[in-house]
Amino acid sequence: MARLKQTYPDTGFFGIGIVNNADELNIGTLWRSAYIMGASFIFTVDRKYKRQTSDVVNAWQKVPLYHYDDIEGLLANLPYDTQLIGVELDESAKAIETFEHPHRCIYLLGNEQHGLPRQALDKCHQLVQLPGNYSLNVSIAGSIVMYDRTAKLKR
Ligand SMILES: C[S@@+](CC[C@H](N)C(=O)[O-])C[C@H]1O[C@@H](n2cnc3c(N)ncnc32)[C@H](O)[C@@H]1O
Repeated sequence: MARLKQTYPDTGFFGIGIVNNADELNIGTLWRSAYIMGASFIFTVDRKYKRQTSDVVNAWQKVPLYHYDDIEGLLANLPYDTQLIGVELDESAKAIETFEHPHRCIYLLGNEQHGLPRQALDKCHQLVQLPGNYSLNVSIAGSIVMYDRTAKLKR
């Protein structure tokens, strides 16, 4: 039997989303970055999103957006063998500089005012944090994490 000689890069997949986002502009910005950085999907937990003018690349036509009512809903729909990675300034978080991104994972970001709730942090397989003592804007933090993943997996 003939065998297919073509090989495919095995860099897995990732999704990214925000729990209880306060500013819809941030989802629009994150969506645009997610499309450019190769995310398979984005999502919201708790609060829903309506399309924004910040989505100038029409990312909604290319990257699906899912909604989960709560963290349990997200966990119940985690793809097989896929890690939930909390992105948060936290004592137990690993520094992004040395973080090894799992091939299959979902990045979870927190609300602009309150961050990720403890209940969500406790459910994550790993936590990762960006440098600095002050929080970045949530869509900027998500975009940097996606860039770091893309850059490291290319090496
Ligand atoms: C503006 S921050 C939340 C700040 C909130 N006042 C707090 O103290 O938790 C919104 C989200 O962006 C992400 N974020 C911002 N800066 C970060 C950093 N340095 N490292 C990791 N995540 C960060 C986290 O997901 C965070 O929940």
